[in-house]
Amino acid sequence: MKHFLSISKCSTDQLNELLEISTQLKGLYKAGGNDPCLANKTLVMLFEKPSLRTRISFQVAMTDLGGNAIYIKPEDIGGIGKREPVKDMARVMSRYVKGIMARTFEHSTIIELAEYATVPVINALTDWSHPCQAMADVLTIAEHCGRIEGVKIAYVGDGNNVARSLGFACAKLGMKLVVASPAGYELDAKTIERANEVSAESVEQTNDPVAAVCGADIIYTDTWVSMGQEDEKQKRRQDFADFQVNAELVKSAPASAKIMHCLPAYRGFEITDEVTESPNSIMFDQAENRLHFQRALLKKLMS
Ligand code: CP
Ligand code: NVA
Repeated sequence: MKHFLSISKCSTDQLNELLEISTQLKGLYKAGGNDPCLANKTLVMLFEKPSLRTRISFQVAMTDLGGNAIYIKPEDIGGIGKREPVKDMARVMSRYVKGIMARTFEHSTIIELAEYATVPVINALTDWSHPCQAMADVLTIAEHCGRIEGVKIAYVGDGNNVARSLGFACAKLGMKLVVASPAGYELDAKTIERANEVSAESVEQTNDPVAAVCGADIIYTDTWVSMGQEDEKQKRRQDFADFQVNAELVKSAPASAKIMHCLPAYRGFEITDEVTESPNSIMFDQAENRLHFQRALLKKLMS
């Protein structure tokens, strides 16, 4: 594995290996140990969009592994692909650092970075996908459900980047994803087809949130308004009104169903405060696992 751009490009064995390394490193660090496998290595982190979890957890992960991270926002470098072509940026940065992580609007930007970089490139979210999030989510599911195979995730909300990466993770790792979205906001047919080619019936789409959560092990949601969609906020909030994860919807799921959200959460919109703070919510374990998964990813790609 040279880069980490999409779960759809990884094999099941590679994904399982990353999960195993995550668990090993999590145990080591919880016990007060350390693994300085990236001593004297630097990761550059390019962000076209805001971030709390991704930025901090990657920076801490690099420090924990003995390396360094440099945070760059577009204004520092005159924009990604604006002051100079992305392909030139990729080749220049490859002469300085041992890894490139980027959060971009267009997915094609990260693909171009990877095409021209001679060091590993990591997708830290694009408009199309969020693979680091989905793998941290799988780690969290394994810990809380005691298994991965056969787990049913009901994703209630926008068929967006987070839903797409979860779909690919389900297809590769033997889980089932049912996405419940309002008409016009479904996960695209091509993604569903690709996932179901890997594993038949691993991803399904419905417009009925109650049907989706029936028998679910996990209820998952994400913002109705992703970064870059701020102009559509009012319309989206109206269109998604019947797709809130609230106590009423949760009643249709098994009492043991866990609640997940990649965060940031907009309480009162895609999820209520009551459900966010309920005992079944595992969102903060999920957020913590970003760090544990990314340590494993950095170790695998850069050491
Ligand atoms: N979940 C997630 O990626 O959060 P940030 O946008 O804060 O990085
Ligand atoms: N779908 C959201 C995820 C945020 C982590 C977005 O792209 O803004």
